[in-house]
Amino acid sequence: MCRSFTTTTTCTSGYGPANVGGVYRDAPALELKGLTKRYDDGTLAVENFDLTVPDGAFFGLLGPNGAGKTTLISAICNLIRITSGEALVFGEPARSLIARSWVGLAEQEINLDRFLSVRETLLYHGGYFGMERAEAEARADEMIDVFDLGSKRDTRAPKLSGGQRRRLLLARALMHRPRLVILDEPTAGVDFELRMELWRYIRRLHSEGTTILLTTHYLEEAEELCEEIALIRGGRLIARDSAGGLREHYGAASLADVYVKAMAG
Ligand SMILES: Nc1ncnc2c1ncn2[C@@H]1O[C@H](COP(=O)(O)OP(=O)(O)OP(=O)(O)O)[C@@H](O)[C@H]1O
Ligand SMILES: [Mg+2]
Repeated sequence: MCRSFTTTTTCTSGYGPANVGGVYRDAPALELKGLTKRYDDGTLAVENFDLTVPDGAFFGLLGPNGAGKTTLISAICNLIRITSGEALVFGEPARSLIARSWVGLAEQEINLDRFLSVRETLLYHGGYFGMERAEAEARADEMIDVFDLGSKRDTRAPKLSGGQRRRLLLARALMHRPRLVILDEPTAGVDFELRMELWRYIRRLHSEGTTILLTTHYLEEAEELCEEIALIRGGRLIARDSAGGLREHYGAASLADVYVKAMAG
């Protein structure tokens, strides 16, 4: 698999930057242009949303319940039909197969196949993304180890605890080595140990060049981890900067203060 993030690298596997005439150009990890989503019942969840996330960024998406974060993520992952606008992943339309193979999503809602064991869940996912059996088995064992699921490798999802299901969801998202990892409230309901493990692992992925898009309601987590943060309210982007930049702009002592001020305004 090609994991290069430079401008002129060539790659034969199909997993790499957009290929333009045999040369790979630098595209942002994510480009949303005028993205609007109105659900069938008339709810306008996201309106005319522009956002660019550079390749290799650790980016936070913050906003209150119902702000539109999961809707945006669902649009990026081609899980919903966009009403208007455009979503590009590393320069390719989000709905394309190649873009989908570049994205790993750990959804807010835990959706695991109840008939598959931990290991089978990971192997099926690897197979879906075209991994060779031996590669998928090695990767599944690595993920089981990283997320401390060794004693549950042959256990089916309904017999896992809530936190173990969350671990499996994260392991599955990372299984096919995505270039863009999207974590929608990954630490909701998980224990202290997993939080620490998860962030250690995600930081390592980020240092190796993987782009991370995170939503969380733990503001101190976002402040510590994210290089840049977008604040969303009512389906619209209201600010985007580093945590330091946001603190300065809002004259706030912490990101929590920024959040309170931004959401009140
Ligand atoms: N399938 C749907 N049909 C109709 N409306 C929906 C649907 N899914 C979400 N919505 C609405 O879209 C808006 C944005 O919801 P979304 O799930 O994107 O918010 P969120 O920012 O992820 O919130 P949370 O922090 O609670 O996860 C809300 O008003 C929600 O009720
Ligand atoms: Mg959500």
